[in-house]
Amino acid sequence: MKNLILSILFFLPFLTGCQKSLEKETSGAAVKSSYYTEPHRPQFHFSPEKMWMNDPNGMVYYEGEYHLFYQYYPDSNVWGPMHWGHAVSEDLVYWEHLPIALYPDSLGLIFSGSAVVDWNNTSGFGENGQPPLIAIFTHHDMEGEKAGRQDFQYQSIAYSNDRGRTWTKYAGNPVIPNTEKIRDFRDPKVIWDEGSQQWVMVFAAQNHVKLWASPDLKTWTHLSDFGREWGSHGGVWECPDLFPIQIENTGKTKWVLLLSINPGSSNGGSGTQYFVGDFNGKNFTLDPSFAPLVTGEKAVWLDYGRDNYAGVTWSDIPQEDGRRIFLGWMSNWDYANVVPTEAWRSAMTLPRQLKLKSTATGLRLLSQPVKELEVLRGAAYSREGQTINGELDLGSQLGFSPSQMEVLLEVELPEGAQTDFGIALSNPKGEEYRIGYDAVQNKFYSDRTKAGAAGFSEKFAAKRHFAPRTSPGNTLRLHLFFDVASCELFADDGEVVMTDIFFPTENFSEVKAYSEGGEVNVSEMKVYPLKRAIER
Ligand code: FRU
Repeated sequence: MKNLILSILFFLPFLTGCQKSLEKETSGAAVKSSYYTEPHRPQFHFSPEKMWMNDPNGMVYYEGEYHLFYQYYPDSNVWGPMHWGHAVSEDLVYWEHLPIALYPDSLGLIFSGSAVVDWNNTSGFGENGQPPLIAIFTHHDMEGEKAGRQDFQYQSIAYSNDRGRTWTKYAGNPVIPNTEKIRDFRDPKVIWDEGSQQWVMVFAAQNHVKLWASPDLKTWTHLSDFGREWGSHGGVWECPDLFPIQIENTGKTKWVLLLSINPGSSNGGSGTQYFVGDFNGKNFTLDPSFAPLVTGEKAVWLDYGRDNYAGVTWSDIPQEDGRRIFLGWMSNWDYANVVPTEAWRSAMTLPRQLKLKSTATGLRLLSQPVKELEVLRGAAYSREGQTINGELDLGSQLGFSPSQMEVLLEVELPEGAQTDFGIALSNPKGEEYRIGYDAVQNKFYSDRTKAGAAGFSEKFAAKRHFAPRTSPGNTLRLHLFFDVASCELFADDGEVVMTDIFFPTENFSEVKAYSEGGEVNVSEMKVYPLKRAIER
């Protein structure tokens, strides 16, 4: 008896302790399990906790943090008066949501723009020997627009001395007024140009970009214009970016100009084209080996999917890292306001490293998912030397949901192949998304015509859309990411990219590889389940 009492006394604290930690875990799990689990909510892409989001803004790296600001309307899940929302990440994978950084003011709404670290305190806004962060954005005067003025957009700045947590708008705003009275006059991206030792701003002005320069981010002078006679002009130019980048495997540096356009993209609505050339501190000029000058194409698209818009690159990535890292808004103005989500609207693409490569068809940008994403991988399902003719059910072999997965495929096409090869995700309701390669046309394609909800816009899923394959050879390399409501294809090491969203009314739970019209040999296949990146 005594022993029994003793042992109860001995175990009691453990038993109650266990109970407590169990309770904590259970209640913790209850909170976690409902957070970010609404239908169509991405699990490892950045999306705002609630309400409307569009373009990424102010992307800058400082003191171990990647800042992501974004066009944000906190009062509704459709576009409205713009603020800058804010999040930070140490690794581009896990994001911490922070309070709104910039609110509309008497000069207008806060449209898209960029941010830099003013290392030498050229602006004089720094404090205590620490460099300030400077945000450069467009003020959009809604009243002015309503009153029929043409000069309702102009460029302004704000500064922060507490690692981007709070911001003060410059009393001398706007720093670039709209004296030419151009209606679309926006989206400044600022860089420090080592060559000319000055700040350079590129922004969109309707059908071209303008380059301006400044010694201190406050006083600006016009350098030059570019683009009236180049690229696609099916819509308004928006959200440019300009940066130097080395051609892979050479010591040579070229300059890249990214340029979003809406509408008029390759597959309809919003999209991003790019130009490769040189910048001499004043003018941007195209390089004779830039792809369209070699092939006669009108424009080269960064992404041939329908959902990668207004993307730009991070500023101030440390030299020892040296990467050029890009992020876009994963939607399209053709339907962004009406996609079937409630609590929040839209997500960003995965962060991608851009590389410049000399190819048979001239200089081209490659996009590759950043390596940090590998932390999300679970144990791989791998196969080698698998011939596919018809359909190969993968779902039953994987042992995890295809709704959140990464797929790497190396495929050998027989000489003169007539094959239509790809991956199909589906659900028991018969909804299906296909992403693949059509050898007859030598094109990649993305097909969401049967992938679930689509009635919200006739422009959403009218037809399968395509991307030309530019790489020669019979070995195809496909790198795919699926995240509940999106697919990103990086083909031929990122030479061709397609990003598309879709809305199955029940998560995709089945996956197969198919080869129609002939066989293909999948020399290597790796499939990883991907963890959610909502909380560690
Ligand atoms: C691009 C864009 C920008 C503008 C912002 C407004 O999607 O139209 O040109 O600054 O969105 O939210």
